[in-house]
Amino acid sequence: MKKLLQPEQIDQGVRQLAADLSEHYGKEPILVLAVMVGSVIFLADLIRHLSMPLQVGLLQASSYRGKSTTRQDLEVELSQLPPIEGQHVLILDDIFDTGHTLTRVVQEIEARKPRSFQTAVLLRKRERCEVTMQPDHVIFDIPDAFVVGYGLDYDDQYRNLPFVAALDEQELGPGISS
Ligand code: IMP
Ligand code: MG
Repeated sequence: MKKLLQPEQIDQGVRQLAADLSEHYGKEPILVLAVMVGSVIFLADLIRHLSMPLQVGLLQASSYRGKSTTRQDLEVELSQLPPIEGQHVLILDDIFDTGHTLTRVVQEIEARKPRSFQTAVLLRKRERCEVTMQPDHVIFDIPDAFVVGYGLDYDDQYRNLPFVAALDEQELGPGISS
């Protein structure tokens, strides 16, 4: 495993994002929506640096990347969310890879008529993008490698690492190429 981002760098990046968001929203109340499960640590750290009134909602987006499934199988589960209409919504995800997940989440949120929405991701793999949208806020651009830690998993493992690291080929099982 090769470390890409140390805890101190992540902390600094998250604080900078919080400062940018505070400047953008001022004292307006916001609704922070985090895509499960990978962005929960990012969410927890970010909101502790925000002082405007805010609500939190969690949504599930599952993309099935097996051979027999297609992109249309991306499922977004929003039923547990607080009301979105009329709210300033901030959508958080751990990583912008091909961009299909965030594109789909944004479509679902927009359809619920928020007053405004912005998107923020911890990481982006620039070379892998397959969509036209880009997140409004990106903390770190990273090389095209499969990464874990700070919430990101491989087979539901490694989320608890306080740093972000790229897994080596031999640590990845068959089926993941990134
Ligand atoms: P996208 O739809 O291709 O942008 O994929 C975004 C989702 O795929 C993220 O929310 C992650 O859950 C997952 N993902 C993409 N790349 C990685 C990675 O390198 N490590 C862990 N999860 C990843
Ligand atoms: Mg995800």
